[in-house]
Amino acid sequence: MRSALVVPAAGRGDRLGASRPKALVPLAGEPLLVHAVRRAAASGVIDVVVAVAPAAACDEVMSLLAPLHGDVVVVAGGAERQDSVRLGLEALADDVDVVLVHDAARCLTPPHVFTAVVEAVRAGAPAVIPVLPVSDTIKRVAGRLVVETVDRSELVAVQTPQGFAAGPLRAAHATALPGAAATDDAGMLESLGHPVRTVPGHEHAFKVTRPVDLVLAHALLAQEAP
Ligand code: CTP
Ligand code: MG
Repeated sequence: MRSALVVPAAGRGDRLGASRPKALVPLAGEPLLVHAVRRAAASGVIDVVVAVAPAAACDEVMSLLAPLHGDVVVVAGGAERQDSVRLGLEALADDVDVVLVHDAARCLTPPHVFTAVVEAVRAGAPAVIPVLPVSDTIKRVAGRLVVETVDRSELVAVQTPQGFAAGPLRAAHATALPGAAATDDAGMLESLGHPVRTVPGHEHAFKVTRPVDLVLAHALLAQEAP
């Protein structure tokens, strides 16, 4: 019985606009991927790390991650995030029973979030997602016209790591239509009728997407430094 962390890190990072793939962009001297995996490893609940890297950077990613965890596997990613996650799942051994899928770009997610997600899966939930309340007012629009204001109390923003019983996650990815490009993995299980449980997310688990997010990440790291 083992827990695996699959880290999709093969995206280009178009919205960040850096000269390297986003997961390899440095934050305080270390790539986002290194920050992400170090925090996951510190949880103590991960037995194997599968990093899904840009095809041209697999060796580089292996050297970056080998010092952080005793069991690291690196595979090349695909065109869409969903393809990268599937390729990561294909690299997992059969004895893995819990899989966490975690965006390299959510590089400051604290270790206790990983622990909470693994515990919820081990307690019997087939799919677990960390969520936060939505703070903006959300409206549905059609073109430039507002159709309605959505009741915010019913909405949450979804983060990673998302945790899964390995069987249902493998089955969801195996039956997913190529190019359907689900935006998250829990959504794939949800559409197959599996219940999806929530646990509290964390403000620091935001996704580095645009340049302003790097500014925030940098400030948070400076605050953490002893
Ligand atoms: N990802 C991946 N393979 C892809 C696309 C994305 O492994 N083909 C990973 C990214 O590296 C990132 C995570 O999925 O860690 C979340 O995706 P996103 O934030 O959209 O990253 P990018 O696709 O790199 O960024 P952008 O959409 O701005 O190009
Ligand atoms: Mg993307």
